[in-house]
Amino acid sequence: MNKPRILTGDRPTGPLHLGHYVGTLVNRVRLQDSHELFLVVADYHTLTTQPTREKVARTHENARAIVLDYLSVGIDPERATIYVQSDVPEVAELTLLFSMLVTVPRLERVPTLKEVMREQNITHPSLGLLSYPVLQAADILLVHADLVPVGGDQESHVEVTREIARRFNQMYGAVFKEPQALIGDVPILVGIDGKLKMSKSLGNAIYLSDDAETVSAKVMQMYTDPARIRADVPGAVEGNPVFTFHDTFNDDKTEVQDLKARYRAGKVGDVEVKQKLARALNRFLDPMRARRAEYEDRTSLVDDILEAGANHVRPIARETLRMVRAAMGLC
Ligand code: TRP
Repeated sequence: MNKPRILTGDRPTGPLHLGHYVGTLVNRVRLQDSHELFLVVADYHTLTTQPTREKVARTHENARAIVLDYLSVGIDPERATIYVQSDVPEVAELTLLFSMLVTVPRLERVPTLKEVMREQNITHPSLGLLSYPVLQAADILLVHADLVPVGGDQESHVEVTREIARRFNQMYGAVFKEPQALIGDVPILVGIDGKLKMSKSLGNAIYLSDDAETVSAKVMQMYTDPARIRADVPGAVEGNPVFTFHDTFNDDKTEVQDLKARYRAGKVGDVEVKQKLARALNRFLDPMRARRAEYEDRTSLVDDILEAGANHVRPIARETLRMVRAAMGLC
């Protein structure tokens, strides 16, 4: 019996952070025994908002950093297929064919489009940005994935993928499965500034590759209960990002309960709560740091992984396109 397939991935715009970890990375690691894992480093997707030469010049380095992030969280390079999207250009052909099966108003309703336009001050989306979810559908359906572990913000893209698969099958016969999204326990992690979402572009992230001092410094600046001006003033735990992080990352649950009780009673200062959080986060990140250090020393490792990944996916991609063309009656 073949194992069910996972396909998911990331845009190489910068290193991965704690939000990625709880939103999707933890699921990828957890499911890599029971599933065949495909991870795409989505460089074409990066072009949808950053097509300048300067940005493109950085993708290679960013892609390498992301692969090291994957390895550091425990993704097994012997089993996972990790590849760069543009190394398998069949995905572009599939995107073109899929683009006939989805309307412009449907894509205009995808919530991430408005969000990206707002965040990046884009008044008119390019055709490429509008069809971002179609390219993602092509990534997913190219390998016939069953499951797509993603953060909460990506759910709408998996929905578009399911609609495209359904539509294709209705029109041309059953070629694709409808993949399921798998959203992490913390679909969207708050930023260290208290803003709704941890994100590289908002500058409010703790990276998996941050060293212990950087993590401590970031935690000490974290946004906390703004109404609490002194340690003897009772503070709010709910909605306080420092406690959200304690709940999510501190493995010492007794310590967390004790800090919460004392915080509510006005019996602990923010400094102690933050110092304990910094220590907990560093405990959480230390095993990743150790694995990263080991992999970093192996110089050609990342290039070898990406080459093997592309070599593994290409025949799968070609076969999918052969089936697609045959189903459609294209010669
Ligand atoms: N759009 C995803 C993100 O920004 C990255 C991505 C590209 C992806 N292709 C994918 C995720 C396919 C899941 C499946 O996080």
